[in-house]
Amino acid sequence: MPIRFIFTTAMLTCMFLVNLSHATPVLESNARFYPVISETGMVVSQEMIASQVGADILAAGGNAVDAAVATGFALAVTLPRAGNLGGGGFMIVHMAEQNKTIAIDYREMAPSDAQKDMFLDKEGDVDNQKARFSIQSSGVPGTVAGLLKAQESYGLLPLKAVIQPAINLARDGFATSVSLSDSLETLAKRLQKDPATKKYFYGDDGAFYKAGEILVQADLADTLSRISNKGRDGFYAGKTAELITAQMERSGGLISKADLRNYKVVEREPVCGTFRDTKVCTMPPPSSGGVHMVQMLNILEGWDLQSMGHNSAAYIHRLVESMRRAYADRSLYLGDPDFFPVPVGQLTDKKYAAVLRSQIDLERSSRSADIKPGLSDKSAPRLIQKAAQKAAQTESTETTHYSTWDQWGNVVSNTYTLNFSYGSGISVAGAGFLLNNEMDDFSSKPGEPNGYGLVGGIANSIEPGKRPLSSMTPTIAFNSEGKPILATGSPGGSTIITVTMQILLNVIEFNMGVAEATAAPRIHHQWLPDTVFYESGVSVDTLDRLREMGHIVNSKTSRLGATETIQSKNGSRLLGTSDYRRHGSGAVSQPEAVEILD
Ligand code: DON
Repeated sequence: MPIRFIFTTAMLTCMFLVNLSHATPVLESNARFYPVISETGMVVSQEMIASQVGADILAAGGNAVDAAVATGFALAVTLPRAGNLGGGGFMIVHMAEQNKTIAIDYREMAPSDAQKDMFLDKEGDVDNQKARFSIQSSGVPGTVAGLLKAQESYGLLPLKAVIQPAINLARDGFATSVSLSDSLETLAKRLQKDPATKKYFYGDDGAFYKAGEILVQADLADTLSRISNKGRDGFYAGKTAELITAQMERSGGLISKADLRNYKVVEREPVCGTFRDTKVCTMPPPSSGGVHMVQMLNILEGWDLQSMGHNSAAYIHRLVESMRRAYADRSLYLGDPDFFPVPVGQLTDKKYAAVLRSQIDLERSSRSADIKPGLSDKSAPRLIQKAAQKAAQTESTETTHYSTWDQWGNVVSNTYTLNFSYGSGISVAGAGFLLNNEMDDFSSKPGEPNGYGLVGGIANSIEPGKRPLSSMTPTIAFNSEGKPILATGSPGGSTIITVTMQILLNVIEFNMGVAEATAAPRIHHQWLPDTVFYESGVSVDTLDRLREMGHIVNSKTSRLGATETIQSKNGSRLLGTSDYRRHGSGAVSQPEAVEILD
């Protein structure tokens, strides 16, 4: 009999419904934005139904890892543009009792037939269509293996219990949200090119699902059931593997049965650093996120940022100059550590940060063309300069982050992705899920920008079995006693690292509540192109002052990232904020009791 959930309390303990019975006031009386509050556990994700699934798992006795795995599978159903089975990601797990923090790497791997120049045309130029939207743009998916590994190693509940809510959502359907409907409408031209994607999201008549219409995904429910019944073999072998390889054969893809069988999840040591007395643990390579966030925090620690005022020109100038230098290093030194000796220790060394800080003129902006990757005096490859003209953030960006926290103090910070919105746009026919286009995160040609305007070098060239460099930055911060105080992360391609860092700084350095920290306008710089990206809300005077200092400030952007953050305050109380920048997202406090019936 299928597992069913019976809710003994109100189903949605959602935004602004808070339990105020606690004696110690935790809310600032002068705050302009308030978080969701919980005394027990919390799940914060970009899609409210999936957050509720995770919170119910907590209420049923699951821990933060069970909730994270359940939320991950649910998002694969309810947020198909970013939640996924056909992509990959990274999870930072903190287990309270063992006082252990682990980084789980379930990034996609290049298929064994992948080649360094597979995306170059006859003239030797990058064929962006092939690198981003063909079936060859798909790496071997890691999500299912990653979620299962996390569950098996650190979860409490049976696998079936945490997958069942996703199966139910796919089998019975759920009401299409406004943002899902809008995205299907906007991307119809691209997504309808693939017959299976068209069938799954547009139906026979080609009409996209309107808000409120019930989206049933029967093939996806079957795939999820196979995973529930057979574990890893329900995806990487048997019928699902057959369907994936049949799709490869039909469309000229590279992923073989052996590639699926050989997919490996890697548990890595997180990259940890300190900012004053806060410890920050985050994702190591093959993500660049952790290394460069720690590097930037090291540079910024040398100044009294608080006294400058949040988002003042003096503060933004220091942010930009730190970002510029970190992203210059990213272009040369970062790649998959199993293939390239990434100098993590040197890049995150406080002495190196002090050298970089000393090179920053406090009154004048530097030019990116003059900043080279900094560990040695060897010039950056000249090709990298060429990229400055071309780099631009042209693609819609969709990855998704979620955070979970349980009553025992276990914490999960997870970011996973298909890369672009709906990945390659190609679905595995019969299996009901979309394939990633993560191969574009490799450097197809040194110096040529990828979909996020990021340039890279041989450290990130394509090789069979290699993982493309990422910017995903799932993060957990700890106080001086080693207790977790914050879990956060963001989508946003190249902007993920700088957005995540600004949440941390807003909370730690500027003492903002987590809701205010989320709402505050953000900026971004990535070395190339040499421009300051900024959200509305940064004052015109400040932007003018930055221009006077020599910054190129002409890239107003509608939004930067979408953070999903949980903060622990006063030891036990949890404050959660789901970014206002995404419609339909939600922080959900653990309901009082949920029974699981077999
Ligand atoms: O791994 C990376 O850095 C990119 N593939 C992430 C893409 C992304 O964040 C898109 N969305 N917002």
